[in-house]
Amino acid sequence: MAVREILIHPDDRLREVAKPVTFPLSDGVKTIIEDMADTMYDAPGVGLAAPQIGVSLQIAVTDTQWRSEEVRHLPDEPGGRRDLKVWINPEFIWKSDNTETCEEGCLSVPETYADVTRPAAVKLRWYDMEGEAHEADFEGFQAVALQHEFDHLLGKLFIDYLSPLKRKMITKKMKKLYK
Ligand code: NI
Repeated sequence: MAVREILIHPDDRLREVAKPVTFPLSDGVKTIIEDMADTMYDAPGVGLAAPQIGVSLQIAVTDTQWRSEEVRHLPDEPGGRRDLKVWINPEFIWKSDNTETCEEGCLSVPETYADVTRPAAVKLRWYDMEGEAHEADFEGFQAVALQHEFDHLLGKLFIDYLSPLKRKMITKKMKKLYK
C-alpha cells in the first residue's frame, strides 16, 4: 500500500496531455495503478487520474459506489473496494446532445465545488489491465465521473468550465492555502 502525494492546482503537471499506455503492463505501471487506488481511497475520492500523482499516462481509477456515506469508511475491509474500476487509454466514441448539470469537486482543487454541465450520456472505449478492449455506455453520476477523470488525461480541470473570474478566484485561493 502506497499513498502518493496528490498534485494541487495550479501545477504545470496537471496541464500535460497524458501518454498512451503500452501492453503488456510493466511492473512499474501495475504498481502505479495500485498506488492510484490506495491514494483515491485514502483521500477519499471517487476517482483519480494518473496526472494527479504526477504520472503522465492515460490511466484513471474510479469507485463511484464509494460516494455513499455508508461505504466511505470501509475501503480496507472485505468487499470495501466494491466498485474499483481501472480505465486505460479511454476514449469517448459518442457523447449525447442532451446535457446534465452536476456539482463537481476534485482532489487537485480541494474544498472547491461548482456546477458543471456535460453530456448526460457517453459511449466509451477503454482497455483493462490485461490489454483487452471494452466498449460500454454510461449515464448519470458515472458518466460525470468518467468525463471528469478523462479530462485530467487531456490536461483539463473542472474549473476550466467556469467563468474566467471564478477560475481566477479559485486559483488564488489554492495558491494561498497550498503554496
Ligand atoms: Ni479531478
